[in-house]
Amino acid sequence: MTHAEIAERLEEARARTLHLVEPLTEDDLHRQHDPLMSPIMWDLGHIAHFEELWLVRNLEGPVQFGEMPGIYNPFEHPRRVRGELALPSLDDCKVVMGEIRARVLDRLAATRFDGDDALLRDGYVYAMVLQHEYQHNETILQTLQLKTGAPYPAPRCYTPPTLRMSNANRGMVRFPGGRVRIGTDDRSAAYDNERPSHEIELAPFAIDVYPVTNGDYLEFMRAGGYARREWWSEAGWSWLGEAGVEAPKYWSRDGDAWLVRTMDHVEPVDADRPVCHVCYHEAEAFARFAGKRLPTELEWETAAGWDAATHQMRPYPWGDEPPTPRHANIDQLSFTTAPVGAYERNWSPLGCYGMIGDVWEWTSSDFKPYPGYRTFPYPEYSEVFFGSEYKVLRGASWATRPGVVRNSFRNWDYPIRRQIFSGFRCARDDR
Ligand SMILES: [Fe+2]
Repeated sequence: MTHAEIAERLEEARARTLHLVEPLTEDDLHRQHDPLMSPIMWDLGHIAHFEELWLVRNLEGPVQFGEMPGIYNPFEHPRRVRGELALPSLDDCKVVMGEIRARVLDRLAATRFDGDDALLRDGYVYAMVLQHEYQHNETILQTLQLKTGAPYPAPRCYTPPTLRMSNANRGMVRFPGGRVRIGTDDRSAAYDNERPSHEIELAPFAIDVYPVTNGDYLEFMRAGGYARREWWSEAGWSWLGEAGVEAPKYWSRDGDAWLVRTMDHVEPVDADRPVCHVCYHEAEAFARFAGKRLPTELEWETAAGWDAATHQMRPYPWGDEPPTPRHANIDQLSFTTAPVGAYERNWSPLGCYGMIGDVWEWTSSDFKPYPGYRTFPYPEYSEVFFGSEYKVLRGASWATRPGVVRNSFRNWDYPIRRQIFSGFRCARDDR
């Protein structure tokens, strides 16, 4: 990225953030809508102070992430208590955002990207801060979907293509097994947890062409999916006992049919769209019902990008072209999922549709470092979360900004979480 491109992207990222919150009142912004989520005002202040930490203070001498100031330090204040913090008004926050941004642009003009500092080389630290804002945009959208009071009047600005696969091949495609190269060595944008790229040997497997749709999921429900102990893991069954749910989050009964709410729209569940807002346990139970299993994240990445012809991993399922809302249902402003097959270009070399866009996809993998992993530039992004508590999700949802979309990107969350824009597809051994 050149200096001018960085400045332009910083401005574009902020414009989007403010666009999303524009319809909200001060009360909407300050309220803790759910214990799982911060008040949106916290996200806004945190975005600004994260930027200041890395793009102003750090450039004047290395700082630790722990030096993040007071109320905006995520490790000092867990999400459920952030509603009690003395958060500013939106106008005051905008003043602080603008003041920080002015100092960032000042520093940027004097910053060189061709030295030895890995943080500055190719503008990495700027890409990191941009991605942080993009990722908080998606977090804000999770909060807005959970919003209490009047529903969020989503500023919908485009309609996804309506192409439907009339005789969709609801089958699976096969990977014959062999050596593939997982991860990336990119140092211009990728996070530490995506590195290093490394070869692995994969056993043959089959994987669904499409993500599991609402129609598929309804079959599971009609088969008594939420009441059949044998399809659930022990942890899943115990979660189900506590949660007491009988459908994906945001679904409601309408006689014999089901409705789904997306922000301020309530509509009949569309059988052709990927199921969304299910947790890992639900995904796992469905897979068992279907006689399948969830893919590992390594299988997922292979299905999304491995090009057997060139023996290389593609950055995106369709190739090298940077992702746009024309490639896949991403970048937020559709505020919905699209019928599977709607995006003509969104196919991987193996023959999978929609690995990117619509919904994040649960995998069976714990969030662990790759062999040879090195923390960079701070442990609080990845390292402190490694372990068996979290499951990896792959892909990107409709609420993901293009700047964080890539086949190698690893998302993670607790297996009980459903407020994220999460779906899945199934796999099976093929020996
Ligand atoms: Fe953050």
